[in-house]
Amino acid sequence: MRPLASRMSVMSGEGALSVFAHARELERQGRSIIHLELGEPDFHPAEPVIDALHKAVKEGKDRYCRVAGVPALCEELATYLRRTRNLNISPENVVIAPGCKIALFLAMMALIEPGDEVLFPDPGFPGYPSITLGLGGVPVPFQLAERNRLQPDPDEIAAKITPRSKILITNSPGNPTGSVYTDDVQRRIAELAVKHDLYVLSDEIYARIIYRPNYLSMLTYPGMEERTLIIDGFSKSFAMTGWRLGYTVAPAHIVPALVMLAINSYTCVTEFTQYAAVEALRDRAQATPRMVKEFAQRREQFVRDLNRVPGFRCAPPEGAFYAWVNISDTGSRAEEICRIMLDDAGVAAIPGAAFGASGKDFVRFSFASSTATLQEAVERILKVSSAWQGTLARR
Ligand SMILES: Cc1ncc(COP(=O)(O)O)c(C=O)c1O
Repeated sequence: MRPLASRMSVMSGEGALSVFAHARELERQGRSIIHLELGEPDFHPAEPVIDALHKAVKEGKDRYCRVAGVPALCEELATYLRRTRNLNISPENVVIAPGCKIALFLAMMALIEPGDEVLFPDPGFPGYPSITLGLGGVPVPFQLAERNRLQPDPDEIAAKITPRSKILITNSPGNPTGSVYTDDVQRRIAELAVKHDLYVLSDEIYARIIYRPNYLSMLTYPGMEERTLIIDGFSKSFAMTGWRLGYTVAPAHIVPALVMLAINSYTCVTEFTQYAAVEALRDRAQATPRMVKEFAQRREQFVRDLNRVPGFRCAPPEGAFYAWVNISDTGSRAEEICRIMLDDAGVAAIPGAAFGASGKDFVRFSFASSTATLQEAVERILKVSSAWQGTLARR
């Protein structure tokens, strides 16, 4: 048999999905598992969204439709982004995709030539380096270090820019850190992008899940209009993970390339889900703010409780729904801590190295579960923490 394409050996999977598969297997064997590994809200779309979906199906909106997305959804997105992010975009700049990840993949496919360098946050979403490598690009990580309060360091980024740098990926609020980039950091990143003629892929999938006012999109900074692609979707903000619905907001000169890639891959996104998404964006039931309020309460309780676990250290995230816990004081490796938590306590979480080398001393917990579940998770972890307390005592 002839071999697969060589790109398959350089791409990688996602730690979250492999921990999830192992946890499900333990569950199948009868174990009780608390799932804190996946980035999935434990909410479902609001009633009016479900009603809109039924209505669209009944009306026969189940056909091939406009490649870049049905006009009603592209128009509603322009209104939504003005209302929630103070952005002035045209519906013509929007390309709907079957998931934020596909939007990211195709944006990168449209831009990366073999040998092009892509700057991306480490720790960060595993797709950034994997897709870069799959397209023959060169991933160049920049650190989100604890000493920098998990913010990018523009000086480090500047030092890593070369004539081959083409794309800079930002992700605020970020997965796995939950950090929201400051205005100053974003301004300096934007200045670097303009100075070195870089495209910025601004992954804003957590933009609505934020615990402080005033979200600032990378698109709002001077000179960014012609070089910023916003990547976003409905999975997190509208609890629609399984609907597979995302979008790119791109400069006019890039839209035809994204449409060309859509024609060559998914043709168009399911028509009835797009009509339901219009209703989600209007958010008449105020489902998103209510969900975020609930996440804020969980964040407070969970971060406080995690800090009671011997050797765990966690600052409250400013956005998203992840607790990013430094475990270096346990004296054990994150992989070992996660193994003990899953095998002995039935709590699934992800070792930080799954998000890049800078994550090696951390564990990511998702707090998209009820306060009672989160409380039980910490109680279970406390019971098995003697496994690493021995190491702590000897230090
Ligand atoms: C930072 C980031 N970008 C993109 C995605 C992908 O989102 P979707 O489920 O819409 O493909 C995720 C999902 O976890 C994410 O955390």
